[in-house]
Amino acid sequence: MASEFDRHFLLDTGSVLRFVKARTEYFPETANLVAEEIGDGNINYVFRVRDLDSGRSLVVKQADRLLRSSGRPLDLSRSRIESEILRIEGRLAPGCVPKVYDYCEAMCAITMEDISDYRNLRRELLAGKTFPRFPEQIADFLSKTLLPTTDLVLDRQQKKALVKRFTNPELCDITEDLVLTEPYWDYKNRNVLTPGTEEFVQEKLYENAELHAEVAVLRDRFMNCPQALLHGDLHTGSIFANLTGIKVIDPEFAFYGPMGYDAGNVIGNLIFAWANKLLTEPDNTAFLKWIRQAVAAVYDGFRVGLEREYDARVTLPLYWEADFRKRYIDQIMADTAGYAGTELIRRTVGDSKVLEVTSVTDPETRKTLDMLLIDTGAALILKRNKLQSGTAVANAFKKAAKQYDL
Ligand SMILES: Nc1ncnc2c1ncn2[C@@H]1O[C@H](COP(=O)(O)OP(=O)(O)OP(=O)(O)O)[C@@H](O)[C@H]1O
Ligand SMILES: [Mg+2]
Repeated sequence: MASEFDRHFLLDTGSVLRFVKARTEYFPETANLVAEEIGDGNINYVFRVRDLDSGRSLVVKQADRLLRSSGRPLDLSRSRIESEILRIEGRLAPGCVPKVYDYCEAMCAITMEDISDYRNLRRELLAGKTFPRFPEQIADFLSKTLLPTTDLVLDRQQKKALVKRFTNPELCDITEDLVLTEPYWDYKNRNVLTPGTEEFVQEKLYENAELHAEVAVLRDRFMNCPQALLHGDLHTGSIFANLTGIKVIDPEFAFYGPMGYDAGNVIGNLIFAWANKLLTEPDNTAFLKWIRQAVAAVYDGFRVGLEREYDARVTLPLYWEADFRKRYIDQIMADTAGYAGTELIRRTVGDSKVLEVTSVTDPETRKTLDMLLIDTGAALILKRNKLQSGTAVANAFKKAAKQYDL
């Protein structure tokens, strides 16, 4: 039967009510529904639909041909990719992502669980909140969603089919430029530097041959290492948390890449929260202690989780050799530190900044913050093969901070 939703158009708070009724049986026929647009991102449209009588709600996320913020076109397959990976992650790490109730290919719209009981982790950390169980929960999420999608676990043909299905060229192109090229070579003139840091950036990023070689290795691995099915954009604005659990959203950048990219993004973003508080609330020792331990615990917990998943799931005897297992996991951990570094640098000098940076408005404090983040990022990239523990990663930040008497 033909329906108004057979061809893509941009939903609004009226049509989304008809859409939900047509596509799901979540609400009773007679429900008294209201909708609001709650999206705050740059890319897509997000609606919450609520039944005024029962209070039950769900969320519809729709991709449009044009970006919500800039109006630039972007490949619509990101929406299918997001819906599929949410389902995969939901199976591998139950309860850690919103449940998908429906995916409408024609409308590029995912209807899913409303996770409003959880709060945006970036904003919570910036407000000084701590989440004692978070390091263990995210380390678990990372190891459980990543290792099982490798061909150490999956059938080789099945894995290759997944690599194909999750090839995401336009979204990867954004990362390849914004994260792994432009911070070191501003060829599109899009970097936004804090006044007074121009010479520092010139020396430390634009003219640093040693760093360029290492970033080139990380860029090459990002593009040529289809190791595991990544979330692809795992910053703290994509993680929602409360005192009981986490919900990870927005995996539209998903593709087959090096696992350390996801773990590194988490660690880099925790360091933003740490750096911000160190500069703006240096006496908040409870938060500063917790965040330092969280950085270390995510790194160490990821390694332990990988080892656990490895021992439970890898079946080919060749891969059971202890030396191979160690080298495989060491490489992932080195990537993790390296991509934490590229995340720190790109969010500091690139045009897609984070609140922990932009909310610092005092010019001198902001300059110091930028330099501290760039130094930490460069240290993590350059020393990534030698940093063998979470404490060593945390110490890279502490050492950089000491230079600024922090
Ligand atoms: N399942 C959900 N339940 C409740 N709120 C949600 C849900 N999904 C998204 N949101 C809200 O909508 C906002 C934007 O969602 P999301 O980050 O997925 O969109 P996006 O347009 O892809 O953003 P970005 O520009 O960061 O890529 C989230 O920060 C969150 O507040
Ligand atoms: Mg998004």
